[in-house]
Order: sequence, then structure tokens, then C-alpha cells
Amino acid sequence: MASARGEFSSRFGFVMAAAGSAVGLGNIWGFPTQAASNGGAAFLVVYLIVAFTLAYPALMAELIIGRHAHANAVTALRQLSNTAPQRLIGGTTGLIGLVVASLILSFYAIVAGWMMAFCIASLATLAGADSLALWLTDFSLERNILGMVAFMGLTVAIIARGVQDGIERWSSRLMPVLLLTLLLLVVYVLTLDGAMDGLRVYLLPDFGRALAPDLILKALGAAFFSLSLGVGTMLIYGSYLDDRQNLPLVGGLVTGVDIGIAVLAGFLVLPAMYVALHNGVEIFTAGGELISEDTLIFTVLPSLFASMGIAGVVVSLFFFFLMSIAALTSSISMLEVPVAYTVENHGVRRKQAALAIGACIGLASTLILLNFETLFGLVVAVTTRYSQPLIGFVFCIYVGWIWHRDQLLQELRKGNPEVARGLFWKIWPWWVRVVCPLIILAIFAQSLL
Ligand code: PFF
Repeated sequence: MASARGEFSSRFGFVMAAAGSAVGLGNIWGFPTQAASNGGAAFLVVYLIVAFTLAYPALMAELIIGRHAHANAVTALRQLSNTAPQRLIGGTTGLIGLVVASLILSFYAIVAGWMMAFCIASLATLAGADSLALWLTDFSLERNILGMVAFMGLTVAIIARGVQDGIERWSSRLMPVLLLTLLLLVVYVLTLDGAMDGLRVYLLPDFGRALAPDLILKALGAAFFSLSLGVGTMLIYGSYLDDRQNLPLVGGLVTGVDIGIAVLAGFLVLPAMYVALHNGVEIFTAGGELISEDTLIFTVLPSLFASMGIAGVVVSLFFFFLMSIAALTSSISMLEVPVAYTVENHGVRRKQAALAIGACIGLASTLILLNFETLFGLVVAVTTRYSQPLIGFVFCIYVGWIWHRDQLLQELRKGNPEVARGLFWKIWPWWVRVVCPLIILAIFAQSLL
């Protein structure tokens, strides 16, 4: 059915879009570096357990609410409410989610702009334009703003085209390219000297480190960010799903792809770090810890690429291209949250909404760039560490306590008439009602301490 509010045309299109949202900088950059410094394969095991026991059920909550309401989070949570206070809390939560999604995009676009700049810098080097390449890889306000604006421009252009022509078409094109690029890079890096040392660090489990309580909570936060939960993104994607889809299955596919890509990225990033070490690049801090996060991506890997001559330029081009694509399929899902609300609840045309909201978020990014030292870390912490788990908590409460069980079953039956007999229905309803909210509260309490 080609409804007025847009719909994914196929299961493949939906899975590519939702997995595209989930697979982002968090997978290719965040997960491997965290695994490296927190017990390697043991962290991987903890992450897998957490992803399937907490993130997957929370993802299902968002998808089911969205598919049931066929509306954005504000409208959907209001619809599920039985009383006026519930309606108020639901609507407010939806609105906060929308602001949080926009704020996440405001810092994400900055980092994605750097990725694009590094990608184009490799092209410039290949073309012999060395001074341009130098400018693009140097941390300057002008470069940062230009990269951010270019990236936001791409995001707005896709979202302005709507669900099928924009989100679905571009996710379905870009996700296979991402997977292919990642596979090529993994195969290439594994052939280089030193790669096996990295593989060892990644695959040898150190359970002593991975079972530390704060680490389990870290893995929870990472899984939440990685599956784009707690801002209404998955809810709005679920709202574009047609009623014939089997929700537990598509949710499982999205979770599987997200985790699969994170694990695969570990086979690239960890070996690459040890190849860099082999080539004389420092990868440990003074304290003996493995270098991670921004230093890794923007210092260690570029020095590795530089030590590899012309092949390094090509690998660098592929690597930052991969990062840019991963970021783009995630950023469009963030922008869709406020745009869908503005279009549906305020009758604004999609193109105008995308442009105006994109411009506002671009302004917020500029503000962050102008006060980088104080604002960047703050916005990251407030949105990802505090807001995402808390809003996710409210989604679970709405599904577990406010929505009637029979209606929930009816919604699930639409795409899977036998669902009541399966394992999913035996476990998930009480899990999302009791276990998920308790664990999310634990994460929240921990991050407050
Ligand atoms: N899941 C994305 C990543 O792993 O990079 C980040 C993200 C996307 C967070 C969309 C929130 C969101 F709404």
C-alpha cells in the first residue's frame, strides 16, 4: 500500500534501512577499540549477551509501538496512553527523543565531516594535490565547518526525498557497498605483517577484565547506542513497516547485521593497529593502555596508511569512504525523527522540513565547533549516556505496563499468526516489562555515580 505517509517497499529495504541506522561509527570505530582495551573476545561475549538480552528486546518495543501506531513517537505514545497524565508523559517523551536525535546528529555530523575530509584528502593525494590533502586532514575551524555542512547537505538531500526514494533507496545501495568495502579491507589488512598479533588480542579472551561490573554496563551503553535505541529512530522506521512483516524476525535480522558488522570491523581495526605497531607507529599510551577512539582513527591509522606508500593512500581512501557511508546511513535515520514529526503533526512539506531542521542542526554543530573543548564531550555524554537509556526505559514501560497484552499480541499476530505459540511470546512480554526497565535503570544509576 502506498500510503500518504510513506512505507518501505520490501523487507530487504527495511532491513537495509534499519541496519543502516544501526551500523555506524559506533560499530566500526567504537566497538573494536572497546573490545581491544577490555578483554578482547571476553568483551565480545559480554557484548553479544547484552545485545540479545537487552538491546534486541528494547528494539522490539520500539518497532512494535511504531508499526502499531503508523505514526511518529509523539503521536504513537499518546495513542497508547489510557489517561491524561500518561498522554502528557508519552507526548513529552516523544518530543525529548526528537530533540535528543537532533543533538546526536549535531555531533555525529562533525565527526562524519572529518571522515569525509580524510576520504577526499586521499583522493587529493592520488591527484598530486598535496597542499589540499594537508588542509583537509588538519584540524581547523574552516575544515570542520565545511565537512559538517557537506555531510549535513547529503543527509538533508536524502531525507527530503522521503521513505522509499530517499531512505530505502540509499540504504539499499550503500549498505552492500559498506559490507564489500569492509570485507576487502579486512582481507587486505590480514595479509600484512603484524596483523596476527592484533588478531590474538581480539580473539584471546580475558574474562577477568570483561566481567568487571562497570564493563558490563559499558557494553550495555554501547549496545544501546549501536542499535540506535531510545530516540525514536527505530520507532519511526517501524512505523513505515507494513502489517505483513514478522516483527520478531525483522528485528532479529537487524540486530544480527548490526552485531555482525561490529564483529567484522574488529577483524579490521585490531589487526590494523598492530600492523601500525609493526611499522613503527606508537599504539600504546604512556600508561601502557591501547590507544583508542579519536587518536586511533585520526592519528594511528593515518600514520599506518602513510607508512604503506601508495597502497596506503588507496587503503585510506577505502577506509574513510567506508566510515562516511556508515555515518550517512545512520545520520539519515536521526534526521528522519524530527522531520517525520514536523511533517505529520504540523503539516509542513517534507522538503521544507528537512531543509529547515537540517539548517538548525547545522547551526547547533557550528556552535559546538566554536566551543569544541567544552561542548563536544558534554553533548555526547548528555545524549548517549543519559538520554538514550532513559527514553528507552519509557518505551519499555509503555509496552510492558501501559499497553494491553491482548493488543500487543494482536499487533504481533498480524505478520506472524503463530506467534503466541513461539518462544518469543513466552519470554519477551515479561522481559520487556520487568528485566529491561530494571537493567536500564541500573545503567542510568551507574552513569549518574
Ligand atoms: N547506531 C549508530 C552507530 O552505531 O553509530 C548511532 C545512532 C544512530 C544513534 C541513530 C542514534 C540514532 F538515532
